[in-house]
Amino acid sequence: MTTAIRIDGKAKAAEMSEKIAAATAAFKAEHGVTPGLAVVIIGEDPASQIYVRNKKKRAESCGFYSVQHSIAEDTSQEDVLQLINELNNDASIHGILVQLPLPAHLDDQLVTQAISPGKDVDGFHFVNIGKLTSGNTADAFVPCTPAGCMLMIEDHLGADLSGLSAVVLGRSNIVGKPMASLLLQANATVTVTHSRTKDLAGVVRQADIVVAAVGRANMVKGDWVKPGAVVIDVGINRVESTVDGETKSCLTGDVDFDAVSEVAKAITPVPGGVGPMTIIMLMSNTLRAAKLSVGLDG
Ligand code: GUN
Repeated sequence: MTTAIRIDGKAKAAEMSEKIAAATAAFKAEHGVTPGLAVVIIGEDPASQIYVRNKKKRAESCGFYSVQHSIAEDTSQEDVLQLINELNNDASIHGILVQLPLPAHLDDQLVTQAISPGKDVDGFHFVNIGKLTSGNTADAFVPCTPAGCMLMIEDHLGADLSGLSAVVLGRSNIVGKPMASLLLQANATVTVTHSRTKDLAGVVRQADIVVAAVGRANMVKGDWVKPGAVVIDVGINRVESTVDGETKSCLTGDVDFDAVSEVAKAITPVPGGVGPMTIIMLMSNTLRAAKLSVGLDG
């Protein structure tokens, strides 16, 4: 029995960070512009607080100007739109991200569509979604998590996935749908599965590439995976585990890592796989937005 390669997203993101920091320094020197990223967080969701803190740290290590707007849970829709409008018109800000999920009284669509498409470093604006799904990826801001997943897939299978089948678990706008578009663009034959899919294990077992983004701890089992598949685990689930009578809270993915490692060719761990890649793609998108703002190609 073989053990899969553990895809080290943390190390890859650190390498990319050095390159982005160097490119940022060169861009600043040449154009006198510092890439600016504004992250808006509404409410106190603890997981979102951690993600946002990590985004800010990475932005600073890349040499960006980074601002965080932490606003109260009960802020009105109007006030959120007003803040986005100010950021759209702020020349020191090149990328705007509103951390999701939003409190229930706010409308995700209204908020994400209010961000100017040229500052939409999350790639959630309809203009960017349209560019991605119509195959104009070079011209789009691509959502960060699927973009990071693609880089890791390419490392193991190359940029052209012709003849390979890919199964995406989950049909969210943040991960599942844009992931499917990117895989299709790379010539994979793509199936998107969801809660209504019949014989999910049987469908997943056909795939050379599995991307799991459902938010259910350890759902993908060893016997669901085709031998030699590349498995990307987007899930971040907090679970309680008891070791020697002590209960601890820990993070686990959507994939049963140990069991799938016996079957797959390569697999991402949680944490240390997709998470750091998501953040670095946000930095890459922000630098690109800053370059586009001065008329460079990005
Ligand atoms: N929440 C979980 N993932 C993301 C993401 O990629 N962007 C934003 N804005 N919120 C998220």
